Amino acid sequence: MNILFVTSEAAPFCKTGGLADVAGSLPPALAEAGTDKVAVILPLYSQIKEEWRRKMTFRKYIYVDLAWRHQYCGLFSLEHRGVTWYFVDNEMYFCRSHLYGDFDDGERFAFFSHAVVDLLPHLDDMPDVVHCNDWQSAAVPVYIKDYAVREEAYKRVRTVFTVHNIEYQGWLPPTAVADLLGLDIGWWESGALRMGDGVNLMKAALLTADAVTTVSPTYARQLMDSYYAHGLEGIVAAVSDKLTGVLNGIDVVSFDPRTDKAIPANYNSRNLAGKAVCKRRLQEQLGLNLEEHTPVLAIVSRLVSHKGMDLICQVADDIMSTGVQLVVLGMGDAGYENFFRELQNRCGGRVCACITYSDALARQIYAGADLFLMPSKSEPCGLSQMIAMRYGTVPIVRQTGGLNDSVRSCQVGQKDGTGFVFARYDAGDMLSVIRQAVSLYHSSDFAVVRRRGMLEDFSWKRSAGTYRGIYANLLG
Ligand code: GLC
Repeated sequence: MNILFVTSEAAPFCKTGGLADVAGSLPPALAEAGTDKVAVILPLYSQIKEEWRRKMTFRKYIYVDLAWRHQYCGLFSLEHRGVTWYFVDNEMYFCRSHLYGDFDDGERFAFFSHAVVDLLPHLDDMPDVVHCNDWQSAAVPVYIKDYAVREEAYKRVRTVFTVHNIEYQGWLPPTAVADLLGLDIGWWESGALRMGDGVNLMKAALLTADAVTTVSPTYARQLMDSYYAHGLEGIVAAVSDKLTGVLNGIDVVSFDPRTDKAIPANYNSRNLAGKAVCKRRLQEQLGLNLEEHTPVLAIVSRLVSHKGMDLICQVADDIMSTGVQLVVLGMGDAGYENFFRELQNRCGGRVCACITYSDALARQIYAGADLFLMPSKSEPCGLSQMIAMRYGTVPIVRQTGGLNDSVRSCQVGQKDGTGFVFARYDAGDMLSVIRQAVSLYHSSDFAVVRRRGMLEDFSWKRSAGTYRGIYANLLG
């Protein structure tokens, strides 16, 4: 079984969010599981560092036709963790100061998707299954079905489409069908590409892919609810017979407090002395009061409203009055960035707002903190809560999406809890579980909960098996 994973980002090469973590760790897990030949294909962004470029081999170039455009497309590859990583080169599209957010993102990823499909016969192995992710590669299943009408080699290729976040759907103007995608108008008239007055690539992928997955079982159910589905609830319901929610894993090799080189001291679930060192260093480094018995509450997140930042702002002073120290790491909306800077100014020695993105600092925070807050309005899966637990930091989460599937509540009566959970999107409800968490911190039970979280299995083993089952099913 040959699998090609198509993604717009993958760690450790380039990353803006959780998709990169998944694309960087699921394919190696599939390869490790044995039977599969696994490859990944992504754009060759200028952000990809020289240390990786040195390892790449130039394979060939082709030209890709996007309607009237005739564009150069280079193909590079390297081997890493049992997987072949292919990189699609076109400097005009991929040498930018950032991965996304340009006026021509639609054209850039239409090019990428078309290039992937044109490149299939030129890869080491023609894939049996092409696994696409989010809107940036949502046109791939459409092109494959389109080619399959004329070309024998494409007839037996099966496609999987994974929704990591339904908020970003890949909207294009109706003229894009002929003028950019270069597809027959039938794709619009049949309703596959059309959504209201525009082209919606995610809708097209949901309808055309042979199987659809999303990143947690709870999110799979929520996608049929208009509160979460951003207009696509009807389409998701219509394809529910081919939809599976598969909980993401994390890269347990990279995120391991026993070996992580980015943290000041290593530790494990039986001996937490190193974690105490990490906490003290974190307090020193961030200018917090050096108080051993004060709980450090951490937030590592994009500072945007759907991550629940508005709830935190509403009750920030009450949170501080529970006696915690607060550490915030992330960037996002200027309003939230300034809010946390200002909170730091008001609460010297007790709040640190790190308005930046840093992988190393994130790890030091996972290791040095005691509690981890993630009150998302919606969260398809979320990886930070799993990383926090692995580093012995007890999560406080809202009961939604993958948070619901990865954290067990240890509130009243629950003997196997791994964290704190609140259901309603409400600042008062969040505050009351923060209070419960702080009081647990001061009790002897905290060590038990902390240890339970550290021992949870968040590896890809189980979910990789589920994906293999989905692929095998498609191949009959
Ligand atoms: C998106 C989602 C996040 C998920 C990640 C990986 O970033 O917002 O919840 O963990 O994709 O699937």
